Amino acid sequence: MLLTMDAPVLVTANEKMQMTQVKVDAPHPGEVRVKMFASGVCHSCLHAYDGSHATPMPIILGDEGSGVVESVGEGVTTLVPGDHVIISWLMNCGTCQACRNGKPAHCWAPSPFGALLDNTQRFHNAKTNENILHYGPATYAPYTVVPESSAIKIRKDMPLDKAALIGCSVTTGFGAVTNAAGARPGESVAVVGCGGVGLNSIQGARVSGAFPIIAIDTSEAALKMAVKLGATHTINAATEDVVAATKKICPRGVNYSIAAVGNTKAMISCLEMLSAGGTMVVLGAPPSGTTIEFDPTARILTGERRMIGSKYGSSNPHVEFPMLIELYLNGKLDLDSLLTGSYRLEEADKAFEVLAKGGHGRGLITFEQ
Ligand SMILES: NC(=O)c1ccc[n+]([C@@H]2O[C@H](COP(=O)([O-])OP(=O)(O)OC[C@H]3O[C@@H](n4cnc5c(N)ncnc54)[C@H](O)[C@@H]3O)[C@@H](O)[C@H]2O)c1
Ligand SMILES: [Zn+2]
Ligand SMILES: [Zn+2]
Repeated sequence: MLLTMDAPVLVTANEKMQMTQVKVDAPHPGEVRVKMFASGVCHSCLHAYDGSHATPMPIILGDEGSGVVESVGEGVTTLVPGDHVIISWLMNCGTCQACRNGKPAHCWAPSPFGALLDNTQRFHNAKTNENILHYGPATYAPYTVVPESSAIKIRKDMPLDKAALIGCSVTTGFGAVTNAAGARPGESVAVVGCGGVGLNSIQGARVSGAFPIIAIDTSEAALKMAVKLGATHTINAATEDVVAATKKICPRGVNYSIAAVGNTKAMISCLEMLSAGGTMVVLGAPPSGTTIEFDPTARILTGERRMIGSKYGSSNPHVEFPMLIELYLNGKLDLDSLLTGSYRLEEADKAFEVLAKGGHGRGLITFEQ
């Protein structure tokens, strides 16, 4: 059945989103339609909103959300209406060799940007009939449509607001340390950029038994939150020399540096603070087309250092979302302290303004139920 909803549509970068009447198609075979409960506000969407990432439009943003399955398409076998789900933004096919191998980030046939797997949209402007693009799972839509493999069923006693955060920032930040870096007890971890993603790298480091755990940010408020979530040391990047300050704590450099901000200067610092044998994990996404320069002999070769990328914390959401929920429900993962701002859908622009200032944990949009 076709539905109509009011959703914020980004038409021009650096301008407010337009609340638009949007028609939502019924899910196609292999897809599910989800009534959204909550959506976190991620800097990846802010990159599209402020134009730092070149993004086709008109588009509905949102990459981090939870909700309840409203209807399922033909052939869907793992979900029924009423199931509680966290949405994965990978939009992977679920059936290729990489997906079956638990590496959905390496999917051979993921949805093309702005569309579902069959390269078409489920959102249409109700007045003009123009197609509206999906920013991955488009979790700012009160109703969204995703492939079956992108809606991960969760236990019903998990609060859906906290669950939404697992859809991007928690899984990405946590997994960067536990999966991509693979930090072990007593190894040192520095996290550069302690926002929604980086704060969860701090938590991943804490749960892994890492020490010291060094939080680095330009905002004192972010550093305060980092300490609450497990950082043992802090460095203010606005006032201190980040590499020198890190080497005061770890004179031979750190085992792992996590670049959790889309800033090239911060990325160079991450490389320069590594010990011999150390690994830098790239999470942040600098503006489209930006590059960094470094001396490969001094920085990589002689110290056998590594620089690796981590998409979605190198996770398999079907395994990791339920695991993170268990950690939360058993007091091992703090999701409550991450939530610092609550917004109605109409206030999504305001949520971006707050996020852009830094130091604010995670804002959450909640939908009318
Ligand atoms: N790899 C992935 O799969 C993945 C997933 C989600 C987000 N991201 C990217 O990760 C980045 C962070 O996302 P977020 O939602 O946590 O953002 P955020 O805005 O919540 O956090 C960024 C933090 O960095 C701090 N900061 C800004 N400039 C800094 C500097 N020069 N040095 C140190 N700290 C600085 C800010 O104060 C803020 O606390 C973004 O680029 C986003 O696109 C990547
Ligand atoms: Zn995100
Ligand atoms: Zn696949």
